[in-house]
Amino acid sequence: MISSSVKFLLNDKLVEIKNPDPNQTLLNYIRSDLKKTGTKEGCSEGGCGACTIVLGELVDNKIVYKAINSCISFVPSLNGKQLLIVEDLVSQNGKLHPVQDAMIKYHGSQCGFCTPGFVMSLFSMFKNNKSLNNELITDSISGNLCRCTGYRPIIDAAKSLNKINKNDQFTKNKYKVIQQLKRIKPKNIYIKKDDKIYFSPKNIKDLKDIIKKHSNFSFLAGGTDLSLKVTKERKEIPFIIDLKEINELDFIKTNKNYLEIGAATPLIKFEKEIKKYYPDFYLILKRYGSVQIRNVGTIGGNIATASPIGDSLPILLSLNAEVLIESVNKRRVLPLNNFFLDYRKTKLKKNEFIHSIKIPLFKKNIFKAFKISKRFDDDISSVCGSFNFEINNNKITKAYIAYGGMAAVPKRAKSCEKILKNKPLNINTFDQAKNYLEKDLSPIGDMRASKEYRLEIAKNLLMKCFIEINSNKLSRVN
Ligand SMILES: Cc1cc2nc3c(=O)[nH]c(=O)nc-3n(C[C@H](O)[C@H](O)[C@H](O)COP(=O)(O)OP(=O)(O)OC[C@H]3O[C@@H](n4cnc5c(N)ncnc54)[C@H](O)[C@@H]3O)c2cc1C
Ligand code: FES
Ligand code: FES
Repeated sequence: MISSSVKFLLNDKLVEIKNPDPNQTLLNYIRSDLKKTGTKEGCSEGGCGACTIVLGELVDNKIVYKAINSCISFVPSLNGKQLLIVEDLVSQNGKLHPVQDAMIKYHGSQCGFCTPGFVMSLFSMFKNNKSLNNELITDSISGNLCRCTGYRPIIDAAKSLNKINKNDQFTKNKYKVIQQLKRIKPKNIYIKKDDKIYFSPKNIKDLKDIIKKHSNFSFLAGGTDLSLKVTKERKEIPFIIDLKEINELDFIKTNKNYLEIGAATPLIKFEKEIKKYYPDFYLILKRYGSVQIRNVGTIGGNIATASPIGDSLPILLSLNAEVLIESVNKRRVLPLNNFFLDYRKTKLKKNEFIHSIKIPLFKKNIFKAFKISKRFDDDISSVCGSFNFEINNNKITKAYIAYGGMAAVPKRAKSCEKILKNKPLNINTFDQAKNYLEKDLSPIGDMRASKEYRLEIAKNLLMKCFIEINSNKLSRVN
């Protein structure tokens, strides 16, 4: 069944938008069409959090509240969800929500511009978690910028929510909302508006049916990269095929040898799983954008962008990951190491999509990864180094080393790996090996870092890795 309408709940009221503009952002819809101006526009690129709204999604018969950046999400992504904006937090009798009360009580607001975004991020944290510790609080607001009050009063407000009864108006209304969400039956969406087309299939078969007939489309997953074409470049995306509603592309499978992740799996779901196997991968994902970005951004999207500073890419390279690629009639598997061609160019052909990524589980190896960025949170890497060593009797028997931010593509440091192989694990080996990084990598200078800094830091990360392995201690700030 196909529909050209987007149906969702605006708080608890069913709304149907017939044939919307597929390139209209949620932020513009909220401010211009709904005429609700509590949600603010700051950067229009997902970086400041002023536009944060919350989507209620039905997962296993429960509502999960996801904070997202409305400035980089398109209207059709509302389909089947509950939209909550800052105005919805006030009860019908005019009573403020406990999160809003806490922000007032602890003086967490001065300008009113960033505040609605903070309130919505804190609201989703409050709704999804029983207890709120420091790590959770700072993670939850890492995508919200405040340039005047400072974070301390906002963090105090967040901490005070631990003492507040969780039964707010949304808890009381929960059963009704779940029933309403269930009644919005999932359908494929096909919208043709002026000269723009949007298609959101529910399964891979319907996806293949449409790609069989067309070639000039763009796949959309979380949209944290693609949507900037509209919001920053002021261009249109004429034909979107949305992969986010395909459950077959949103999965995590494990066996004793590897982990397979569906391409449309949100990073926030992936980070919870990878923590069990590769804690440093998890720590880097925790610093990937913000909760708002990771709630929608996908692992497949990160790989397909082929950005030289894409955070998951050097890590996946050093873990010898493979990409499973599908087209209408074919399936092929490529080592990620052979996937990147040049700056933002990959071996994906037109009509091919990434189905999943397979990550081997090196149970006996030592794996470490480090991200260097100008800011700790919500900032993409200047350099990211990832190291995977097999060590037997103090000898390096295998080495897989990869860097981001050091070439036009994320890259393995093959000469450095070669020089380390079969050498004793000692400082002389690493001192010698680090110089081979100059052969492997050719960084450029840009606003994130100069090429000299990049090369120096890449060598230092290799040495840091050695120091941690040798001392069997972590040497980390924070
Ligand atoms: C504020 C902000 C902060 C960010 N911080 C970071 C960061 O810290 N680290 C980092 O690495 N990145 C960061 N990014 C970049 C961005 O989040 C990533 O590139 C993201 O992983 C893209 O995934 P997506 O699902 O949003 O992809 P989309 O934007 O939907 O798509 C990106 C590209 O991939 C293609 N694509 C998507 N899925 C598939 C598929 N299954 N098969 C084939 N092609 C596909 C699309 O057609 C498009 O060309 C940030 C972005 C923003 C806006
Ligand atoms: S306006 Fe800055 S994140 Fe949306
Ligand atoms: S209170 Fe709004 S920027 Fe700080």
